[in-house]
Amino acid sequence: MNLKDLFINYFVSKGHKQIPSAPIVPENDPSVLFNTAGMQPLIPYLMGEPHPYGKRLCDYQKCVRLTDLEEIGDKTHHTFFEMLGNWSLGDYFKKESIGYSFEFLTSVLKIPVERLAITVYQGDEKIPRDEISAERWMELGIKKERIAFLGKEDNFWIPGDSGPCGGDTEIFYWRSNDQIPEKFDPEDDRWVEIWNNVFMEFYQDDKGNVTELKQKNVDTGMGLERVVAVLEGVDDNYLTSIWQPLKEKLELISGKTYQGNEQAMRIIMDHVRTSVFIAADPAHIKPSNTDQGYILRRLIRRAIRYARKIDMDIHSNFLEELALVVIDEYQNYYSELKENKDIVLDVLKQEQLKFSKTLEKGLKIFEKVAQNSSFIDGETAFHLYDTFGFPIELTKEEAKLRNMEVDEEGFNKRFLEHQEKSRTASKGKFKGGLSGNSEIETKYHTATHLLNAALKKVIGPDVHQLGSNITEERLRFDFPCDHKLTEEEKEKVENLVNEWIMEEIPVEKETMSKEDAIKSGAECMFIDKYPDEVTVYKIGNVSKELCGGPHVSNTKEIGHFKIKKEESSSSGVRRIKAVIE
Ligand code: ALA
Repeated sequence: MNLKDLFINYFVSKGHKQIPSAPIVPENDPSVLFNTAGMQPLIPYLMGEPHPYGKRLCDYQKCVRLTDLEEIGDKTHHTFFEMLGNWSLGDYFKKESIGYSFEFLTSVLKIPVERLAITVYQGDEKIPRDEISAERWMELGIKKERIAFLGKEDNFWIPGDSGPCGGDTEIFYWRSNDQIPEKFDPEDDRWVEIWNNVFMEFYQDDKGNVTELKQKNVDTGMGLERVVAVLEGVDDNYLTSIWQPLKEKLELISGKTYQGNEQAMRIIMDHVRTSVFIAADPAHIKPSNTDQGYILRRLIRRAIRYARKIDMDIHSNFLEELALVVIDEYQNYYSELKENKDIVLDVLKQEQLKFSKTLEKGLKIFEKVAQNSSFIDGETAFHLYDTFGFPIELTKEEAKLRNMEVDEEGFNKRFLEHQEKSRTASKGKFKGGLSGNSEIETKYHTATHLLNAALKKVIGPDVHQLGSNITEERLRFDFPCDHKLTEEEKEKVENLVNEWIMEEIPVEKETMSKEDAIKSGAECMFIDKYPDEVTVYKIGNVSKELCGGPHVSNTKEIGHFKIKKEESSSSGVRRIKAVIE
């Protein structure tokens, strides 16, 4: 039986309900691009809302962490991983939680106690030193010398800057053939952390204020890849059974062995697996130049570049072949892979088509510049981006390999100029835009935000503004959509907008830094085109967009909204014209 099943079976036998893995693109939490921990989708329940499945939960959760993107290629980092977790939502606390972890590791996984060591929280002004956990561990048979008390840096866990949080106890495993030292030294990296049990008693807001939660929770997380490596006795995660089928396929297609090509092969395998999961997510992410779409684009393009490095034919269907192995391996656990198989294959194929044509040419430019200079100026970097589809991160990585510098500021400047030019061009072409600002146009501006939000609800989360134009007579809105809207869809959209108008929702304007705006989940097309300080317009829970305005102060001012026309604008793009009556 594999580790996921063993884990779930164990916790179910202890009265936990298995909850399904949440999508990797968070459904109701715009503060992060991807779920980065098993607890992320559970935040409302850790805060006190009753969970429909009860107070004891367990799952395996898909996670994507991108902080280490440049580190992928070593033995232990992955952009996608699965986290095993069990939770008590105001039910059991330290003693039981530690008891379960100990029993699972030593009785189910049969890990010898001598190979384990523990860290616990040494406490601070608010939280006492965690003697309860330490004593519990000793009661179970962990020696005193194998328990270390550490500070906030190590034994306090919070998801990012704010959220439910608390002290934790971490379990370490001796991963080495060397003699196991009596005394545990957490700095010795032969001890690897395998499980983290967080005792969530507090909430920290984004200003740093800490309050007590309504209930005491337990949140645990165990990285699947790492524990499998431990159990299988290898120190390279990619040598575990998890990666074997993909590794074998990659060796077969490339005609190369893993040994000697580790870095490139790890990057290709990691990035293909993550891209498959992102493309299969119900959020329907497509490669693009913003947000999750940009991450997907970077992953696919980086995989292609490393495939070229090991002399693979980057015009062949290697990405699809590898993706099929990932889908095959994981589909029994994640049904969306099966359901969205065609979408995933198509996303990879289209992005590969776009990039494989220009990669070669772009790299030639690189070589040419590299012959005479150790510097990629802003213009070249922008040329590589605009004409050859090189994400700036890729240009930077290529430059680093050749000990070259990149003028990133110069790149950003050109990027902004370019955006500005396209904006002015479209303004000149279609009179209107933000230039008018009469009372009726102001109403149309707000109606446009409502229309965008309604289309997202009715057609799907892929909908966003591709173009907008406002006159005194009507609004016009272009958005990506692969079909003509049905009468029913149009009616739903119209009704939603009119409902929101009737709900008399106040329109709030807030000025904030661009960074905060993005973090807050405000919608915008090209983040780089905006200045550092931006205005965000929020219409209740309905819409939040970066926008110059102007807008009405309450939706009730808009009047009655009606769609006049729905037509094709270009391939895959639909256009709505609507009026206010
Ligand atoms: N939420 C904790 C972690 O991610 C368990 O480590």
